[in-house]
Amino acid sequence: MKIAVLVSGRGSNLKALIEQQTQNDYEIALVISNKANAGGLRIAEQHKILTHYIDWSDGNAAEKKAACLLAQTDIELVVLAGFMKILSPSFIETINTPIINIHPSLLPAYPGLNTHQRVLNAGDTRHGASVHVVNDQLDAGCLIAQTIVEVYSDDNVDTLSQRVLQKEHKLLAHVVGLLATGVLTCTQSQVLLNQQPLTQPLLIT
Ligand code: GAR
Repeated sequence: MKIAVLVSGRGSNLKALIEQQTQNDYEIALVISNKANAGGLRIAEQHKILTHYIDWSDGNAAEKKAACLLAQTDIELVVLAGFMKILSPSFIETINTPIINIHPSLLPAYPGLNTHQRVLNAGDTRHGASVHVVNDQLDAGCLIAQTIVEVYSDDNVDTLSQRVLQKEHKLLAHVVGLLATGVLTCTQSQVLLNQQPLTQPLLIT
């Protein structure tokens, strides 16, 4: 399965996807970023993956360009891995491939930004990350899989985010692998596991 990964920053999830692609039946054929200096673009270049920086100051024009690139590259799945722009409903409708996103919280808890700080402020004892289908609501599409970490009493944002990030790397590659082999299939409104509706997110340890 040919996938495109959209990134805005460091790109550690992209790196994990690259490292796990051969044993997982997917090929990262395109990496797009809205930031010219994104670490993720450099990582992709080092691995000789086609990269494109798109200036996102005009969201409409940017999405048109992204849609063209996705079609030209025969992309079958779009993965948002630390992509910090909100995609418009019309883009999501028109591109004709599923889009999934990794988010650093146990959705539906803590959509949006600063999830680690919000978890610490709330005194939660559990935190984690989720992979979900992207729809026209922020971080609210069908959940596919989650991973859970314990929150320690001496955690700060750095320690907690690092622990979650390590788990994200395995979570995302695992989900993309299941989609690539057809064990999981998804549309904008539902996720199927072995052709049956997924009733709760998979738990990846
Ligand atoms: C990851 O923690 C990802 O879950 C988060 O950005 C980070 C990207 O790290 N995504 C979001 O917050 C999306 N709302 P990376 O660039 O090292 O993969």
